[in-house]
Amino acid sequence: MDNNFDVIIIGGGPGGYVCAIRAAQLGLKTACIESRGTLGGTCLNVGCIPSKSLLNLSESYHKAQKEFNAQGIEFSGLKLNLDKMMSNKNKSVQVLTKGVEFLLKKNKVTYIKGKGVLFSNKDVVVYEGEKKTSYKSKNIVIATGSAPLSLPDIEIDEKNIVSSTGALSLTDVPKELIVIGGGYIGLEMGSVWSRLGSNVTVLEYLDFITPGMDREVSSEFQKILTKQGIKFKLNNKVTAVTNVADKVIVDYINNKTKIKTRIECDKVLVAVGRKPYTEGLNLTKIGIKKDKQGKIEVNEKLQTSLNNIYAIGDVIKGPMLAHKAEEEGIAVAEIIAGQAGHVNYNTIPGVIYTSPEVASVGKTEEQLKSENISYKVGKFPFIANSRAKVNNETDGFVKILADTKTDRVLGVHMIGPHTGDMIAEMALAMEFGASAEDIARTCHAHPTHTEAVKEAALAVDKRAIHF
Ligand code: NAI
Repeated sequence: MDNNFDVIIIGGGPGGYVCAIRAAQLGLKTACIESRGTLGGTCLNVGCIPSKSLLNLSESYHKAQKEFNAQGIEFSGLKLNLDKMMSNKNKSVQVLTKGVEFLLKKNKVTYIKGKGVLFSNKDVVVYEGEKKTSYKSKNIVIATGSAPLSLPDIEIDEKNIVSSTGALSLTDVPKELIVIGGGYIGLEMGSVWSRLGSNVTVLEYLDFITPGMDREVSSEFQKILTKQGIKFKLNNKVTAVTNVADKVIVDYINNKTKIKTRIECDKVLVAVGRKPYTEGLNLTKIGIKKDKQGKIEVNEKLQTSLNNIYAIGDVIKGPMLAHKAEEEGIAVAEIIAGQAGHVNYNTIPGVIYTSPEVASVGKTEEQLKSENISYKVGKFPFIANSRAKVNNETDGFVKILADTKTDRVLGVHMIGPHTGDMIAEMALAMEFGASAEDIARTCHAHPTHTEAVKEAALAVDKRAIHF
């Protein structure tokens, strides 16, 4: 095999494999190196995809258990078969990772299995077991993703003290589950196990959940999850997590009162964030700079300190989201091919796939205030949306923030049914520089949840029809 390439991408996650496909589409001789044994990265193997499978199935189980009877769907003998649920999830993951392999093949991307290590700005050596192969490339893209963070002196054993990876494969429903961290992972996985029967308690360091989210949405979110049975202990710092026989002891201290508490549980999920994964790449040796948090420094063209080596996704600044990495992957491939690849970081949506879903794009009210930008707010609750009402899914609202003078949409924040899909319309609107008026004058099908978006846009100028 000819070991010379135009582009070598290290990492076959959503950033890396998408970059590889785009580069190949543009006529570049491309290789993608992946050490996991399957493509798709954290997202497909142990992240977005398996968690969405469990979120979907646990929600069906929960509805069958708690809601169907009252809605006239009566049956008896409902039973949870966790093994089957897990194998359903595993099958979906397998099909999708194989699908990515097929896509690489279809696009004539060389898929190299093994761990890639950089030896210069053009030399990559791939180690696979005893085997060592050298490759040369004009351009290299680092897309090695991230790994779970832990807390000092707390060892994640993936049995009783688990990260998101272990939480996706528990073999029994824990009676008591403590979740450390009220962010994306903690609340999604906490919801899964709560619906399957666990008593879930979230210990959060801050005095609110989901930092970075519009605060009004975050506080509504906490209220809704509390109603669903998840307990929150905010403003607490976990100081120790210890395995004792088949239980886990968690010690924490209240940040304000300094009161120390000890609780016992069956499992602990540590979900306090993720760190860029760059171990063993030889970055320092070849002169690639990282910031204090270990993220690779890049310029606006996503070039590292060596200008033919690029970095994308979780290893660089910005939200650790699969779709952000994908956009960067496409942009880098186009930049390498001499085109004007670009990512608009202001229109990257964020979604938490709980029930209801939480979705946002653009600036929060807190950001607009801190930037002294004058804005108008239009809000519409799902209780006044006919489709949400007939489906008995009335929690939440849509909130649109628009510039006071120009009416341009600056941010959209939603909590409610199907908002994870609905946010796409808002990202598109913002990408096109839409005003609230533009959205308000766009016909939305009736009866759909999307009418709440139109109504929120009308509410920006205090003319909502149904509220
Ligand atoms: P996160 O950053 O979303 O939340 C971590 C939480 O842990 C924060 O609320 C933080 O205040 C809290 N925390 C930190 N130290 C603590 C301590 N000592 N005691 C108690 N609380 C503490 O991180 P998470 O949930 O681990 O997710 C990691 C990344 O994965 C996120 O950046 C997210 O973007 C991504 N992700 C995205 C998903 C999605 O798009 N739906 C789903 C899952 C993960």
